Amino acid sequence: MAGSWLPRCLLLLLLLGVSHGAWNMRQIRHTLHRQRQLDSFKSFYIRLAFPKGASGYTEPIEGHYTQPLDHFNRRNNATYRQRYWINEEYWQRPDGPVFLYIGGEGSLSEFSVLSGEHVDLAQKHRALLVSLEHRYYGASINQDGLTLSEIRFLSSQQALADLASFHLFISQKYNLSPRNTWICYGGSYPGSLSAWFRLKFPHLVYGAIASSAPVRAKLDFTDYNKVVAKSLSDEAIGGSAKCLDLVKEGFRAVDALLHSGNTSELEKDFSSCDALSGPDDSAEFVGNLADIFMGAVQYNGEIRGNNVRRLCQIMTTESPQSAYEGLRKVNQGYMESMGLQCVQNSYEKSVADLNSTKINPVGVGERQWYYQTCTEFGYYQTCEDALCPFSPLITLNSQLALCTRVFQITMESVQQSVEFTNEFYGADHPKSSRIIFVNGNVDPWHALSVLKNESRSEIAIFINGTAHCANMNPSSPDDPPSLKKAREDIAVQVTSWLKSAEKEVEAPAP
Ligand SMILES: *[C@@H]1O[C@H](CO)[C@@H](O)[C@H](O)[C@H]1NC(C)=O
Ligand SMILES: *[C@@H]1O[C@H](CO)[C@@H](O)[C@H](O)[C@H]1NC(C)=O
Ligand SMILES: *[C@@H]1O[C@H](CO)[C@@H](O)[C@H](O)[C@H]1NC(C)=O
Ligand SMILES: *[C@@H]1O[C@H](CO)[C@@H](O)[C@H](O)[C@H]1NC(C)=O
Ligand SMILES: *[C@@H]1O[C@H](CO)[C@@H](O)[C@H](O)[C@H]1NC(C)=O
Repeated sequence: MAGSWLPRCLLLLLLLGVSHGAWNMRQIRHTLHRQRQLDSFKSFYIRLAFPKGASGYTEPIEGHYTQPLDHFNRRNNATYRQRYWINEEYWQRPDGPVFLYIGGEGSLSEFSVLSGEHVDLAQKHRALLVSLEHRYYGASINQDGLTLSEIRFLSSQQALADLASFHLFISQKYNLSPRNTWICYGGSYPGSLSAWFRLKFPHLVYGAIASSAPVRAKLDFTDYNKVVAKSLSDEAIGGSAKCLDLVKEGFRAVDALLHSGNTSELEKDFSSCDALSGPDDSAEFVGNLADIFMGAVQYNGEIRGNNVRRLCQIMTTESPQSAYEGLRKVNQGYMESMGLQCVQNSYEKSVADLNSTKINPVGVGERQWYYQTCTEFGYYQTCEDALCPFSPLITLNSQLALCTRVFQITMESVQQSVEFTNEFYGADHPKSSRIIFVNGNVDPWHALSVLKNESRSEIAIFINGTAHCANMNPSSPDDPPSLKKAREDIAVQVTSWLKSAEKEVEAPAP
């Protein structure tokens, strides 16, 4: 059975990664992608086995819809086929609401309309569930889509226009009217899209849930690793000041070995697939080692055996010899949990991976996402700040250099694009209404989101103790009280939106 569903049912993807392009983070993201799919699969089938309602299960509809490749120049008649899913199971025809789940930097699957917080809410409010895969990711891409000339139609602005066009398509297909209230959902980059869809198309969606949405673009995202440091010392999740200190000390020892040019020791101790040749490989190496900690923090509690508590346990109690030895053990444990024989530290291989135009219909679109960082968001997680616990070899310049090497985009251009993105969407002060920004304090991405109720119109929910997009998973008895409370707050908001939307339709404002 496994063989038949595994490749097909990839899901809800909320894996905004570390953008420095190192290999380990890609392994972590792919593993998590698979694991989340398994979890959704389980939660969905448990629900299926013990149905709450009387209605039987109806298969979601998978479809493809032809979109203009360039919404902003209709004299370009090129198109691509965008994939979507529809779940009619809970929908109260003809006036029930429509819940839109927005895809992002990876493939979606039917689980995007079968499992998750938005599905629980759809069941409660008898909503039609629809989801749209992001252009250029998953199956929503032309054969030659990743080439340098074709990738230029990949942008958040085009993605929002796709959503508007999809809104029209669904409205026609189901003969919808203003009585059908639309609410959109997304997490991570799609969380930003969810907020921006409400911001730019307020006539199309009544409200938006934006989970772990880094709505402020940032070229040099130094704050990312500051939050990682804070989380590594956060006792509520198994961190400690001692753990953070040992991580710093371990990286200083690694840096010293690199500095002395003695790399053979590091290659052996950290199971490098190949010899480290030159400064680029050294930077890749420390980036990969840092990824293990960054991934453990960002996805704390989601990757089995690779969370803050476990890593800090190894650093503080299982490595009495030295901090360096602690890092070595952390790396070993990571490799075992991921089933790796060695760690790929070749910079040239990383460049070649990002430069490959081969389309991978399942999983995270690494080349595409890097392109979006170069053309819209930056988000480079650097370590040049003294508060970063890892190696200062993780620099902004090395990450920007990839934009030039892989996409022929200059550093100045990246800087300008980031500024424009903030100007275009309003950064972390979007002037909109009825958007819920949900963040967890453990998640490094919260540093670029909306955390306070500054205007009457936005609602910020800041969850103590959770990592990236925790509220988007289906609710579980293991949820900490702070997450349960956040889910309740979101549910209350959604209910009140639906009520006020109904009133507006009945008695339109004069
Ligand atoms: C698209 O436009 C080109 C000219 O720009 C034309 O040759 C071609 O027939 C058009 N294709 C379609 C499907 O309209
Ligand atoms: C490299 O470092 C290791 C221990 O840190 C030491 O045993 C070895 O002799 C060094 N090699 C060179 C060439 O310096
Ligand atoms: C990327 O691939 C193209 C061909 O697809 C090639 O011309 C170019 O040199 C490659 N760039 C790098 C940095 O490998
Ligand atoms: C913002 O306001 C909402 C209620 O409108 C409340 O639930 C939430 O806790 C507030 N957020 C913060 C960060 O104070
Ligand atoms: C967060 O939760 C931990 C325990 O889980 C508690 O010790 C801490 O005080 C809480 N912080 C805030 C700001 O509520």
